[in-house]
Amino acid sequence: MFDLTPWMERQLAQVEDALSRWVCAEAPAGLGEAMRYAVLDGGKRLRPLLVLAACEAVQGQGEAALRAACAVELIHAYSLVHDDMPCMDNDVMRRGKPTVHVRFGEAQALLAGDALQALAFALLTPEDGVPPAMQARLCRLLALAAGADGMAGGQAIDLASVGRQLDEAQLRQMHRLKTGALLQASVVMGAACGQPDARAQQALAQYGAAVGLAFQVVDDILDVTQDSATLGKTAGKDAASDKPTYVSLMGLEPARAHARALLADAHAALDGSGLQDTRALAALADMVVHRSH
Ligand code: IPE
Ligand code: IPE
Ligand code: MG
Ligand code: MG
Ligand code: MG
Repeated sequence: MFDLTPWMERQLAQVEDALSRWVCAEAPAGLGEAMRYAVLDGGKRLRPLLVLAACEAVQGQGEAALRAACAVELIHAYSLVHDDMPCMDNDVMRRGKPTVHVRFGEAQALLAGDALQALAFALLTPEDGVPPAMQARLCRLLALAAGADGMAGGQAIDLASVGRQLDEAQLRQMHRLKTGALLQASVVMGAACGQPDARAQQALAQYGAAVGLAFQVVDDILDVTQDSATLGKTAGKDAASDKPTYVSLMGLEPARAHARALLADAHAALDGSGLQDTRALAALADMVVHRSH
């Protein structure tokens, strides 16, 4: 049996150390402090773990993967800062702390998000250490997943859907974009740090799509089943804000069954990948679906 814990501890130590070095406090007028507050001390770091596990599965380049892992986490952290702002979900707690706009004010939160997004692309384009073609591909994958056809577009659908009941196809599309795209990109970027064959590439993209969608289905479930202390963010927020979710669409048990079916899809994709060691990826998929926060 593969034991995920020691693997995760090793990877998390690397990621925390790199984030702490790369997100430095020196930005002017308190901006650095707000950026570090948004990124450090909290977060499951699921996206970095997916990047590093995919890179290991394809025996890719470690330096590129660590940069990609941190870049995706910075985009994710920025999306959370903006998601919590009063003009979006209006949340006061995130990762067990007051949200960035509560602590630093709205303008600084906006700017911290902007600066984190820019820093993500700076991390992907070092002067040396990562081949230029690989840098370009990683930038493109991240830009596509973060932008209008990915996270930002999904967030726009989310805000436009308040008070409406979407059908399953519409809800799936919203979740794929707002959350799934960045999670899938994590896997595909990890793979882009190596040279997997077409079959492995396609299998990893399928795995990433299944895990990405499962992740948001479970986020919807946890919003109704857990308390705020466990989540580190306000529980019951989706119903209170009248957001369409997998739970409001199909009910709690069918939503759970749906998450389990997506998990089976993720495992099936890995089994068909032809890759030798996908144990960390398999264990991360289990973690996404069985997590409590
Ligand atoms: C929460 O993501 C926001 C969604 C995309 C649903 P995570 O649950 O990964 O949040 P952190 O990074 O662990 O705080
Ligand atoms: C957020 O979805 C997705 C993002 C792109 C940040 P949610 O609004 O459901 O995330 P939480 O529940 O606030 O973490
Ligand atoms: Mg939201
Ligand atoms: Mg939210
Ligand atoms: Mg949520």
